[in-house]
Amino acid sequence: MDVPSLSPRLGDHMGLAEKRRRLLRLHWIEMEILELLASWSETMVSIPVRAGVGRFMWEQALHCDHLAWALRNLKHLGRVVPSVAPSDELVRYCEQLHQTDDPALRLVGLFQVLVPAVAEAEDGYLLATDPLADGNAVEAVEYCRRGHRGQTLWAERMLGTLLSTPAERRRAADFAHAQRVALLAAGGLTEDGAPAYYLPYQGWPEESELAATRAEAPTSVGQWQTTGYRYSKGFERNVVRLRWDSRFRYADSPADLADAPERGTLEGLVHWLHGLFHGECQTVDRMGWLLVDFPDLPWAMRKDMAQQAWEEARHIQIGAQLIEGLGGRLGQYPFPPYFQHLRRDHHHPVMHMVMGNIMGEGSAAAATNEALKYSAGWGNDWLQHGLEHLSGDEVLHVNFGKRWGRELSLADPVRFWEAGKRHAHTAIVAIEAARQVFGYASDPTRQCERVDREFEALLRPGAAPAGNEAAASGEY
Ligand SMILES: [Fe+2]
Ligand SMILES: [Fe+2]
Repeated sequence: MDVPSLSPRLGDHMGLAEKRRRLLRLHWIEMEILELLASWSETMVSIPVRAGVGRFMWEQALHCDHLAWALRNLKHLGRVVPSVAPSDELVRYCEQLHQTDDPALRLVGLFQVLVPAVAEAEDGYLLATDPLADGNAVEAVEYCRRGHRGQTLWAERMLGTLLSTPAERRRAADFAHAQRVALLAAGGLTEDGAPAYYLPYQGWPEESELAATRAEAPTSVGQWQTTGYRYSKGFERNVVRLRWDSRFRYADSPADLADAPERGTLEGLVHWLHGLFHGECQTVDRMGWLLVDFPDLPWAMRKDMAQQAWEEARHIQIGAQLIEGLGGRLGQYPFPPYFQHLRRDHHHPVMHMVMGNIMGEGSAAAATNEALKYSAGWGNDWLQHGLEHLSGDEVLHVNFGKRWGRELSLADPVRFWEAGKRHAHTAIVAIEAARQVFGYASDPTRQCERVDREFEALLRPGAAPAGNEAAASGEY
């Protein structure tokens, strides 16, 4: 008896060079979407939208990671892969989309126009390739395709609530049309631009492949080096009050924040969670700063930052549910100004690892553990379980800070350890000056000493961070 073969049939319409060209283009565009989301995060305003953006930063990082894996399996790539960038017109199209200010129109441009175009290119790849022999790429591209399907559905649901009047829906439809025309005029995703290099082993000198890549392509930005058009995703400086929906407001003076309920009580817990909620939103954004402002960091670190963005996005949702479940209300307390945003004005990756991940998240973990202890006898399982997950995740984030702070510092002490400390000091001076203007007492010397202790600890293998002074504000 003949047994029917269940194996896919060999045979397709593309040579290896064309497969590689298409997969590299998909990698470029998935990375661009990651960086668009990372850059927009802090000005997306609507809380459910912000939570989705954090989640999609992680999804996009996984798309890039899967495609990079398929490329490495396609054929030995060598250290530096000669490639072609997309057309300058496509890069300009992305730049113009990036400059869109209205969060709803950003979702329209990204999820109704650009992402469907990517999905179409991915479908095109799957149709043209060999389902048997090109199995790795098929798996990676199908993975991206599934992700985009979910993202598109999510965006439609969000737009259903964001576009609440016929005039807004009309404006969104006009914008979508203009974006489609602009993408067509740019030649779509497949048009080739300037010669470029793709760096499959982008990372740090401790691996010989990586060291050689750096030597051959020292000016690379992220995993792509190109002579074609580039743009940088800038940000507004001197900001200590971020954009929120109408439920929330910032305090005008310390007196506005004066009557905090007592710690250890139900009201005290809600008050602390309310401050933490602000911090969770801003930590998704801070992961965005790292991803968008430092594309040259090792990919493994960027992937960890994208993972953290997703976890912080979950913390937004956990925090909101705990506050409401305990009888509180989002927006019931004013927020203190977000002085720590000034870190971005003086940014440096190791400074962010030390001040944000090690010190800020260490404080958040300590305060969460304290809340776990004093609420243990309240007989409330969902509260305990929510806090347990918050605490567990924050410990992981402290460890991201220690790992990458140390690895970068050891890889290049001048560029990362010394410069990181210098940037931390200038950030502290700016933060303390802003706190003083607001009406708080300020002590930059003590803050600099704390930061210096954490920088010293980075160079002592196995040393625990010295900090973890409990932060009452939940600002990290
Ligand atoms: Fe968090
Ligand atoms: Fe965290």
